[in-house]
Amino acid sequence: MTQAEATTIFEEEILEGLKARNKYLSSKYFYDARGDELFQQIMKLEEYYLTRKEHEIFTTHKEAILQSIYDGQTFRIIELGAGDGSKTKILLKHFLSRGIDFTYTPVDISGNVLEILESNLKADMPDLKMESFQGDYFDALAEISTSPEKDVVFFLGSTLGNFTEEEAVGFMSKLRSFLKPNDLLFLGVDLKKDPSIILNAYNDDQGVTREFNLNLLDRINDELEANFDRNQFQHYPYYNPHTGECRSYLISKVRQEVIVAGETIHFRPWEAIFMEVSKKYDEVQLEELADKSGFKPINSFYDQEEWFADLLWKSEK
Ligand code: AVJ
Repeated sequence: MTQAEATTIFEEEILEGLKARNKYLSSKYFYDARGDELFQQIMKLEEYYLTRKEHEIFTTHKEAILQSIYDGQTFRIIELGAGDGSKTKILLKHFLSRGIDFTYTPVDISGNVLEILESNLKADMPDLKMESFQGDYFDALAEISTSPEKDVVFFLGSTLGNFTEEEAVGFMSKLRSFLKPNDLLFLGVDLKKDPSIILNAYNDDQGVTREFNLNLLDRINDELEANFDRNQFQHYPYYNPHTGECRSYLISKVRQEVIVAGETIHFRPWEAIFMEVSKKYDEVQLEELADKSGFKPINSFYDQEEWFADLLWKSEK
């Protein structure tokens, strides 16, 4: 995709969401340079337990994870949305120290992210066999999954949580279609827990998460000649303990009109824009997801409090 094509798709998707009966914007657009920076800050927040918990799981269970993945054959780790790799590094280092033969293939839409990741990991682990792939997850899988070696797809950090249940089944089924019978999926999911803990993770005291949401309005202003006034919107996260969805909204405090790419968008007082879902799973929902998307659960790893889980699933064919 060229830059011009990407801009057209961005404009179309933003306008479609703002013209819908229930307005929405896609959280996949949170991550411009400022958004990346804000997400780095979020991961360091006291309230944002997810990153810490997954870190704990890897540190505590790295040998058990290796034992579940490794059957004597060489394998390839394909990591979707590798980010800064600081958590995955714990496992990679451990696997190397045990003399295991494997390749690490991080996939990311951002070439910049991959370059930084590559130089970081190489400095720390000169022996790591690394072959990055820049692009869309499914384009990457289509291109690289033809190799005969055993693949272990890493999809960590509760990234799946940004999908609703229905979208998750679609995504996971498509992902499964690229796997060979012996391949594995290593999936990081956030679990249901005390609702106030979950809500606080998306409503931090310093307002970083609020800023993370408002940043998308700034981005639309910059990239689509829009005139959102961020002071006229209120950040409102809420958690539904039945569905496990924590949803964030930006709510218009007043009646107002905003111009976006030449179109006028009307807001009634207290009209909401749905910004992001961060879904929390329980064991029944996970079983259902595995079942509907054609996976068979092999093993599960938890932190001490069982707030987060990393699941090893096999493609069931
Ligand atoms: C990157 C999708 C895992 O939903 O918890 C953090 C993004 N949003 N705070 C999440 C996010 C608000 C995060 N994920």
